[in-house]
Amino acid sequence: MLKLKYTRNLLTALAIILLFTACTEKQLDELVQQSEEETTDVAETEPVQPEKPAAVALPGLPADVAGYTQWLKLNAAPIPPAPGGDPHNGTKNVYVNQTRDTIAPNGTQQFPYPDGSIVVKDATRPGKDYIGLIAIMRKKDGVNPDHNDWEFIEYVRNAADAEFRVIAKDGICWGCHARVKDIDYVFTELE
Ligand code: HEC
Repeated sequence: MLKLKYTRNLLTALAIILLFTACTEKQLDELVQQSEEETTDVAETEPVQPEKPAAVALPGLPADVAGYTQWLKLNAAPIPPAPGGDPHNGTKNVYVNQTRDTIAPNGTQQFPYPDGSIVVKDATRPGKDYIGLIAIMRKKDGVNPDHNDWEFIEYVRNAADAEFRVIAKDGICWGCHARVKDIDYVFTELE
């Protein structure tokens, strides 16, 4: 009699354990499913595109000028080709990686440019609809004290999907740019 009762109790206990396990398993399943659904929901409701896509340098250009068209533009209107021969032939815009407040506190441009400045000029060649020339001036402390520590380099390409390649640098550039030595070798002033 006693033995029977014991067995029955044991069975009941087993049944409860089984039920409980089944239950938790089911609940777990549900939880997993639910969280999976939630993950899909989140993915679907995320904004499709960030406001500004990450800047990528034009092919063949160094990474530090990626997104230069978002920088401060020195010229107000595009600079047309210079009559009678243009050293950087085309319609040009000039950008710098500084803020207006930094280079023109109180509204008047100050010289020299701070160390680390990068000036980028792009030119669309006459009759073309893509940028065919990129000229860069980089100010690096100590690299060229004779020319206010500017490094000069110029790149060109002849097709909209072509890579830029270096065409000239430094020595070729100094002669002309020395004409505007008093405004730190940069012809284009902030407008
Ligand atoms: C024959 C003269 C001449 C030579 C050589 C020359 N430049 Fe220029 N550069 C100019 C003039 C003028 C401007 C003013 C904007 C314009 O009209 O294109 C200028 C503008 C620039 C600018 C935009 C900032 C500014 O000064 O207005 C950069 C950057 C630049 N040149 C880089 C170079 C590099 C790099 C070289 C050498 C590979 C070079 N330049 C050689 C005359 C010259």
